[in-house]
Amino acid sequence: MSVKECSHHHGKWKKRFRRICVGLLIFNFILLVSILIVWAILQPKKPRFILQDVTIFNLTVPAPNILTTSLQVTIYSRNPNDNIGIYYDKFDVYATYRSQQITYYTAIPPVYQGHKDVNVWSPFLFGNNVPIAPYNGVQLVNDQSSGGVQLNIIMVGRVRWKVSTLTTGRYHLNINCQAYIPYGYRPTGIVVGAGVKYQISDSCTVSL
Ligand SMILES: *[C@@H]1O[C@H](CO)[C@@H](O)[C@H](O)[C@H]1NC(C)=O
Repeated sequence: MSVKECSHHHGKWKKRFRRICVGLLIFNFILLVSILIVWAILQPKKPRFILQDVTIFNLTVPAPNILTTSLQVTIYSRNPNDNIGIYYDKFDVYATYRSQQITYYTAIPPVYQGHKDVNVWSPFLFGNNVPIAPYNGVQLVNDQSSGGVQLNIIMVGRVRWKVSTLTTGRYHLNINCQAYIPYGYRPTGIVVGAGVKYQISDSCTVSL
């Protein structure tokens, strides 16, 4: 009799335990699905960057290992997210030639870019008698006489994402815009004051 009672109790506990297990499984499943749904809805898309134009005031190689650069670039940026705003906290722009930095950093003032907002920046980039690798100086003079120079406009910064009232920590944002300056095809360059403006309209690569 007592043995039977005991096994009866044992069965009851087993049932209860099984129920708790099933409940936990369902709970975990629902939690996982909710997290996936929230992530899918909020998944931040990278902002889009387009280099619209480059105006060259000076790009002179006085000696093979020295370069003077003076340009202005127009950069368009758009936040494609429906629910996420972007704080650009710190943002520097500079130009490179064959991976070598040829201008100083130009800082862009911190800005908040709301949902689907667009910003256009037109920073000036300078480099006065900057030392460069002699082979790059020689190559640049060759490029200029053969009709085109490939520069890269680089932007490095820190961004924070804002989701309703929450703001994330800071993330690095790197933007690389290729700017092919076609000296050889003058019609694409428009004389603007002391410079020549070249339409580029190329998308930049954006990495987080
Ligand atoms: C461009 O830079 C060179 C070299 O530094 C300088 O001699 C020249 O005067 C500059 N030209 C203009 C238009 O500023």
